[in-house]
Amino acid sequence: METKRNDMTPHEAAAALRWLAEMGADEIIGEEAVNRLAAAASAGAPVLAAKAAMPAPVVAETRHSHAPATPSQAAACGSLAEIAAALDAFDACPLKKTATRLCYADGNPAARVMLVGEAPDRDEDIQGKPFAGRSGQLLDRMLAAIGLSRTADDRENAVFITNLIFWRPPGNRTPTEAETQMCLPFLLRTIELQKPDVIVCLGVTPAHRLTGRSDGMLKMRGRWTTANISGRNIPLLPTLHPAFLLRQPAQKRLAWRDLLTLRQALDAH
Ligand code: URA
Repeated sequence: METKRNDMTPHEAAAALRWLAEMGADEIIGEEAVNRLAAAASAGAPVLAAKAAMPAPVVAETRHSHAPATPSQAAACGSLAEIAAALDAFDACPLKKTATRLCYADGNPAARVMLVGEAPDRDEDIQGKPFAGRSGQLLDRMLAAIGLSRTADDRENAVFITNLIFWRPPGNRTPTEAETQMCLPFLLRTIELQKPDVIVCLGVTPAHRLTGRSDGMLKMRGRWTTANISGRNIPLLPTLHPAFLLRQPAQKRLAWRDLLTLRQALDAH
């Protein structure tokens, strides 16, 4: 196969690689580069050829080519498996184009407790399940300390875990409002179908989206509030995100208090 000569200097090549890493292309997933954003992806294109094509179509599609929200697709789903299938087939969200795979949910669908995080990170993008990386390992240890687990079979000790956003934003950037609005109906339908007794929000963003409040995390964490989902008021407890706790280990004592608050509520009902 004829290879096109690359006339980049080593300095330019290093800058281009840094740019790709910042955009979230930080994992080699195949021998051949595939530009998934090009209309007709050409297998065998040089890796760095993706550079010029990447950001522009994503932004253009967000603004122009798709109907914004997705309530009807989500509402049509009658089970969590159908939501996963609908998300898999859902091409309107630009994040899907840059993500490796869908990251929808993990844990026991019968669980009393639903955890809602923010968005998949690198490990979740690769494995396709929420909280699969270091923050997930910390989360699992925190849950175990109050007798909960994503692998438990009985609903009393189990948790179900999902996120506000179902595909990794490139370079872990903040999702746009349009991207969030596209994912939100699927999260709301997930809550309707999973019917948790309580929701625990990991981080302030899902807490804001599900409660309509805009208070800061330090005001909201550890205090019960409610999410009104289709006329049902579900107790919701915001707590600190495990990734924040990895960066600020001294704050783990606050998270521990929140976990005890959760444990008490579960024991009382
Ligand atoms: N952070 C989140 O909010 N969710 C994940 O799934 C992983 C990291």
